[in-house]
Amino acid sequence: MNECNVILDSLDTFATREGDPAPGIYARLFAAHPELEALFLMDTDGGVRGSMLQQAFDCLIDVAEGGRMAEVVLGAERVNHKSYGVPDNLFDIFFLAIRDSVKASLADDWTAQTDAAWTRLLAQASQASYP
Ligand code: HEM
Repeated sequence: MNECNVILDSLDTFATREGDPAPGIYARLFAAHPELEALFLMDTDGGVRGSMLQQAFDCLIDVAEGGRMAEVVLGAERVNHKSYGVPDNLFDIFFLAIRDSVKASLADDWTAQTDAAWTRLLAQASQASYP
């Protein structure tokens, strides 16, 4: 299986097993970085968190597929987020929380190949920016 399919496959399994992945991913993010929870106090219905996570998944899939959308979206959001008080490096931390949630859900189905594919994916996502 090529690396793109390894990623898509892991996301597919994750989606099947978890249903709505948002609560678990944000719980993981806030456990590692409790100070971030306060940023979302206004997001009482979870709508912002949900659409942010959806965009993050879209970006990861685009990076895996070798597309050009993620660099535009991530480039723009890195700038937008500075005005919400969110520094650049938190994007990597968010992607890590996603990766760790997928890994926990896949459990024994998370192989060395899956791990290597995700390591490369996150390195690419970290560098994806435009211009
Ligand atoms: C892949 C990375 C990210 C993407 C694509 C992304 C995307 C977005 C989008 C599209 C919105 C607007 C959502 C809406 O109003 O419906 C948003 C809002 C927001 N994001 Fe992100 N985000 C990312 C990472 C982060 C991180 C790491 C944090 C901090 C932990 C963060 C904090 C926020 C906050 C606080 C808002 C609400 C801002 C407001 O409405 O005042 N984001 N994000």
